[in-house]
Amino acid sequence: MTAIHAEGLRKSYGEKQVLDGIDLRIPEASVFALLGPNGAGKTTTVQILSTLISADGGEARVAGHDLTRQADDVRRSIGVTGQFAAVDGLLTAEENLLLMADLHHLGRAEGRRRAADLLARFDLAAEAKKTAATFSGGMRRKLDLAMTLVGDPRIIFLDEPTTGLDPRSRRMLWELIRGLVEDRGITIFLTTQYLEEADQLADRIAVLNGGRIVAEGTAEELKRRIPGSHIRLRFATEGQLVAAAAVFAVAQSDPENLALNVPGDGSPATVRAVLDLLESAGVEAESLTVHTPDLDDVFLALTETPEPAAA
Ligand SMILES: Nc1ncnc2c1ncn2[C@@H]1O[C@H](COP(=O)(O)OP(=O)(O)OP(=O)(O)O)[C@@H](O)[C@H]1O
Ligand SMILES: [Mg+2]
Repeated sequence: MTAIHAEGLRKSYGEKQVLDGIDLRIPEASVFALLGPNGAGKTTTVQILSTLISADGGEARVAGHDLTRQADDVRRSIGVTGQFAAVDGLLTAEENLLLMADLHHLGRAEGRRRAADLLARFDLAAEAKKTAATFSGGMRRKLDLAMTLVGDPRIIFLDEPTTGLDPRSRRMLWELIRGLVEDRGITIFLTTQYLEEADQLADRIAVLNGGRIVAEGTAEELKRRIPGSHIRLRFATEGQLVAAAAVFAVAQSDPENLALNVPGDGSPATVRAVLDLLESAGVEAESLTVHTPDLDDVFLALTETPEPAAA
């Protein structure tokens, strides 16, 4: 089933067109990452899909409900963790959770049960009675995510969930998030600046730039799309290298390492073509490795020249 399905979402602020026709189809129980430079419209997209603001155009269904006609049903199905933590520093961890339980009309007993369960699950039980103002950034983020879960949402929007966290806290949060998807079938829509985060966490990634989605796919698919990927062949002798170099029209020889870099992606068809050419030259390579650019390369290539947003 599709958790989020959007078509042609548009949004402008005054003269500034922020979203210029966004299409999304996010399957249930998956992690979707929206990447983009500052000001690309990531938070705006989250706000629209979580009914906090309305789009100027386009349609969307979230958890099967129409975003505008069934906004209350959408709200009952989702949780949102904003870019800036919603934790109240003056309240304890437990009180923050109980407040959320109140907002969801859970009733006292059920609210306490769910708060205790979440504190335990997020390893915050020892901190339950401490005010959140004394928490580190990582603890605050965990509590924030726990608060989002009080309402038992099917879909969670996480706007830059790990910004400012150290690598260890980030990994811990990633594990918690993956657990929500794998153990409970929750769908995660996250925005991030960290390409590694998208790479590690997301099943699918979309890159937002100039008001449009300029690329979408798995991390591997995105990496294969941009130039720079090549197949590296290594040989036992210089004679083999020279013989191999002769059969490839465009290839970069690296004599020092007895290697030849052939431009091309790592798809089976390309690899087969390379091996066929080698065979026709009667040369056997010692090893073949596929080098794909990392997500940083993808991000820079796709967002390099900011398109002027249409008025
Ligand atoms: N309430 C608003 N009024 C006017 N302009 C706004 C408003 N909210 C956002 N914008 C503008 O819309 C554009 C997109 O903002 P948005 O917050 O969605 O970007 P973002 O991708 O989340 O950026 P960041 O990575 O910095 O969080 C920006 O140019 C911003 O200035
Ligand atoms: Mg933002």
